[in-house]
Amino acid sequence: MVKIDIEGCSSFVKDAEYAKYLEKALDAFDVLEKEQGPGNDFLGWKHLPSGTLDPASATAGRGYPSPAVPDGMLEACEAVRDDWKAKGVDLVIVIGIGGSYLGARCAIEALSHGFARQLRTKNAPEVVFAGNNLCEDYIAELMDLAAERNTACIVISKSGTTTEPAIAFRIVREFIEKHYSDAAARIVAITDAERGALKTLAVREGYRTFVVPDNVGGRFSVLTPVGLLPVLVAGFDVRAMLEGAAEMERKLSVKSEENPAVVYAAMRNLLYGGLGKKVEILVTYNPKLQYLGEWWKQLYGESEGKDGKGIFPASVNNTADLHSMGQFIQEGERIMFETVVNVENASRSVVIGPDPQNLDQLNFLSGKHVKHCGAMARLGTRLAHIDGGVPQIMISVDSLCERTVGALFYFFEFACGVSAYVLGVNPFNQPGVEAYKKNMFALLDKPGYEEQSKAIRERVQASH
Ligand code: PA5
Repeated sequence: MVKIDIEGCSSFVKDAEYAKYLEKALDAFDVLEKEQGPGNDFLGWKHLPSGTLDPASATAGRGYPSPAVPDGMLEACEAVRDDWKAKGVDLVIVIGIGGSYLGARCAIEALSHGFARQLRTKNAPEVVFAGNNLCEDYIAELMDLAAERNTACIVISKSGTTTEPAIAFRIVREFIEKHYSDAAARIVAITDAERGALKTLAVREGYRTFVVPDNVGGRFSVLTPVGLLPVLVAGFDVRAMLEGAAEMERKLSVKSEENPAVVYAAMRNLLYGGLGKKVEILVTYNPKLQYLGEWWKQLYGESEGKDGKGIFPASVNNTADLHSMGQFIQEGERIMFETVVNVENASRSVVIGPDPQNLDQLNFLSGKHVKHCGAMARLGTRLAHIDGGVPQIMISVDSLCERTVGALFYFFEFACGVSAYVLGVNPFNQPGVEAYKKNMFALLDKPGYEEQSKAIRERVQASH
């Protein structure tokens, strides 16, 4: 379902060098599969697709404990969707940051009609996101929208203590409590099974809750209720998404030089370690895939960027970005390679018509599909960028649907684990994320940070 093509790197790398990195990737595959690497207590994501679709067989088949998938979880998600439908809910605010929102946003944007909001024909609530910024205008404007609509909320925080979603939730909760007599039924919390302020609040207020499993980190959690519930509520088929992911789970579990995750891990590490290409650009050619780039950047950036190492993950959405970043990619500093996510078939058909006057001089395209022009743009760009010194990996799926979105999620997660082990880092921690938080808490005078508050104030004053 997910195919990989590394032909676009062949003029840059020697076969012997690739063979060396392939060997490293196969070793890393073993480490991941045997669960012997750093962070191996965070591997619950590996069997989420099969475990969610069929908990009994997944657990029995591999002897792998599956605490990540509580019985009846999907049915409980469907009950929330049906309950909110019965209430006429037409706006769901999903509150979360990082891994607690990017996967859901990626899937919903990829699967939605591009103009669903304007068309207003969809028989499902509109899903909007909050808690991923500290912008006062954003939250004020979101409350303007909530006031016009029949609103519910899903608040997601694994730790249950992250500041951005906690602030947004306080504001949204207050709004819902003020406007609805059934407030508790309009709020679902997805958090740790036992710990954290959000869990305490959810129990006290009687919200429905779902668990972010202990052994699944935030950025690997899209196939838990963290991603599944918002995608389901938005009207999409999460069972098909899980089936696509399960197909990849089966395919990628086979140790082979053709395993696409092994190939991807080998090539990107060779381009980085062997050729000094320090930036990887995820390239998409469909505006609906912009958030695939955002989700992927978090997955790879947070998993690999540590210990002074890592490929810097960037993304572009073409052809729009060919008219902005295209110049740099073609001729700027030669530090990057591209990974193109190619959707082979369009879902709709639009043919360019003839024009007797031909004032726009486009009659040479008359009778051609827009997708043909897109394909030629993609091919022309590939050749130009390779000529310009930018190697290209291509990842292809046949179409854009729930199955392929699920398959892409699982492919990139598994490949990330293999790749980070080739690089020699723990993919499943994120110690660097704490640094800004400590400063922010000190500057906000959070109780417990008194000494840091004093020190940081002195530092800020000294620099003025
Ligand atoms: O991947 C991760 O662990 C992080 O990006 C988290 O998802 C992010 O920091 C949000 O954390 P939490 O869900 O605890 O609020």
